[in-house]
Amino acid sequence: MNLVIRKMTIEDVPAVVALDQMSFSLPWPERSFRFELTDNPASRCWVAEVDGRIVGMIVNWLLVDEAHVATIATHPDFRRRGIARKLLTHALRYMRDEGAVSSFLEVRESNTAAQEMYRKFGYEVTGRRKGYYKDNNEDAILMTLNGLENFKFEELEG
Ligand SMILES: CC(C)(COP(=O)(O)OP(=O)(O)OC[C@H]1O[C@@H](n2cnc3c(N)ncnc32)[C@H](O)[C@@H]1OP(=O)(O)O)[C@@H](O)C(=O)NCCC(=O)NCCS
Repeated sequence: MNLVIRKMTIEDVPAVVALDQMSFSLPWPERSFRFELTDNPASRCWVAEVDGRIVGMIVNWLLVDEAHVATIATHPDFRRRGIARKLLTHALRYMRDEGAVSSFLEVRESNTAAQEMYRKFGYEVTGRRKGYYKDNNEDAILMTLNGLENFKFEELEG
């Protein structure tokens, strides 16, 4: 698989929106992705391409020394091939180099696939937001990864 991870650009927004809509019951509006790329200095966004086609995306916010994973998705036809792992590895390494020492995220309680991936990175459950997701009132699980400055990225890359 000819996989390339590169920074998201404004031209990518239609493909990223389509991917987001395939992946989430509460997708982001297009203007949110545009805002991340044009008006949010904290935002760090990448896409994964296979043969020039966008098959993955990740949006993060770097808040001083905290790397918040805002959203991540892989196209349904390309899942379980290590694409999200590569996107998250790339993003965390980049933000670590910019000074991040920890990472945070929220994930649906029922999303065991994503939780399993985060656990493999070393994220731990650190809290819960009751009824965070408005479509079904589902709780968000908060997960945290500490010690990013000493993170062994090579071990994830296998
Ligand atoms: C979660 C998601 C991003 C994973 O993307 P992916 O590219 O398929 O993930 P990877 O192939 O890199 O998998 C990395 C690890 O995550 C875990 N994982 C991924 N999908 C899984 C599944 N369906 N069941 C159990 N574990 C899973 C595994 O531990 C996997 O490692 P392995 O394949 O070596 O066992 C993808 O399923 C997705 O886009 N889901 C919808 C959007 C979403 O839920 N995003 C996360 C929001 S918090």
